[in-house]
Amino acid sequence: MPTTTERRSAPPSADPDLGRAVPVTMTVNGEAHTILVEPRRTLLDTLRHDLGLTGAKKVCDVGNCGACTVHLDGRPVYSCLLLAVDCADRTVTTIEGLAKGNALDPVQEAFVRRDAFQCGFCTPGQVMSLRALLDETPDPTDEQIARAVTGNLCRCGAYRNILEAGRLAAEIQAARRNDEGVGR
Ligand code: FES
Ligand code: FES
Repeated sequence: MPTTTERRSAPPSADPDLGRAVPVTMTVNGEAHTILVEPRRTLLDTLRHDLGLTGAKKVCDVGNCGACTVHLDGRPVYSCLLLAVDCADRTVTTIEGLAKGNALDPVQEAFVRRDAFQCGFCTPGQVMSLRALLDETPDPTDEQIARAVTGNLCRCGAYRNILEAGRLAAEIQAARRNDEGVGR
């Protein structure tokens, strides 16, 4: 049963637009939050600054790089291109919501095992895109893996290892499902 927390959009005063803030309720990583947000506030800023979830990264802030990728109702989206008010009553999953306790998500484990990052700044977005792929297509082709991360730029050029991690993630997920019977 999700718990509910109430938060106020930061910064708390001085900004005249804050007077126009409206309450928005959304479920983030299984927890319901009611937040006062200005209508212009993006989902990315709400996650990072109001909820303290800094895994999704702000890089271009205009929909070019994919570093801010999260799931909205299970679909990968650029959170810098969405307004928080448009996410009312919807479900958001961020990179912080993938691991179950100490158990990494198969995609996270695969990134570690395949050394699929250098600076790591693009990594949360890459992982969320591949997680969305495996949710819909548990046994993807190499082409599907490449297409899933085509909207996620990596300035470090770790693409080869990222694609290898995508393949390994599918194998890890399948092995876990075999061991557990169902689920991941
Ligand atoms: S920060 Fe959102 S696409 Fe680059
Ligand atoms: S690992 Fe540095 S941008 Fe991708």
